[in-house]
Amino acid sequence: MMVKQILAGALFGFLAVGVSTQVYAQAEKRQKLMQDQGAAVKAVKAAVEAKDYAAIEAKAKDLMGSSDQIVGAFPAGSGTGKTKAKPEIWEKSADFAGQAKALNKAAGELAAAAKASNDADIGVKMKAIADTCGSCHKAFRGEKYGE
Ligand code: HEC
Repeated sequence: MMVKQILAGALFGFLAVGVSTQVYAQAEKRQKLMQDQGAAVKAVKAAVEAKDYAAIEAKAKDLMGSSDQIVGAFPAGSGTGKTKAKPEIWEKSADFAGQAKALNKAAGELAAAAKASNDADIGVKMKAIADTCGSCHKAFRGEKYGE
């Protein structure tokens, strides 16, 4: 009886550790996705200065791809641990998905503007992208990492 309880306790502890490690890995993975987006935006800025339209287009397409991965990177139950994800992500999931879609759209428009070598339009679309990053962070990202 005693042994059984100890074994059950050990097994439960093992499972609990397994779950929290998974949640932790999930937050780390999406933070990496976000960091990649930050790097892509930086690369776009450098390419705009260099008037390298092909590079702008390529990075805009990277952003389209990463924006498609945002919603999937926030599965239900992954709001704990070292994360700034706010509970609103899951409470207003349609709104959250809408913000990711807005980024996807702006990135697609930037790619088109780069393809057309349209400097004025490139400027407008870059600002649209920065706005979508900012508005999603304002609504759905907290100030501090959770414990
Ligand atoms: C749909 C909402 C959404 C959009 C759009 C979005 N982000 Fe984020 N971003 C988040 C959330 C939520 C976090 C917090 C993630 C966490 O800590 O688990 C975050 C975190 C980050 C971080 C910090 C990562 C870390 O190391 O903790 C960076 C950098 C970042 N985003 C950059 C960007 C850039 C650049 C864009 C636009 C190109 C962007 N994000 C668009 C929701 C979004």
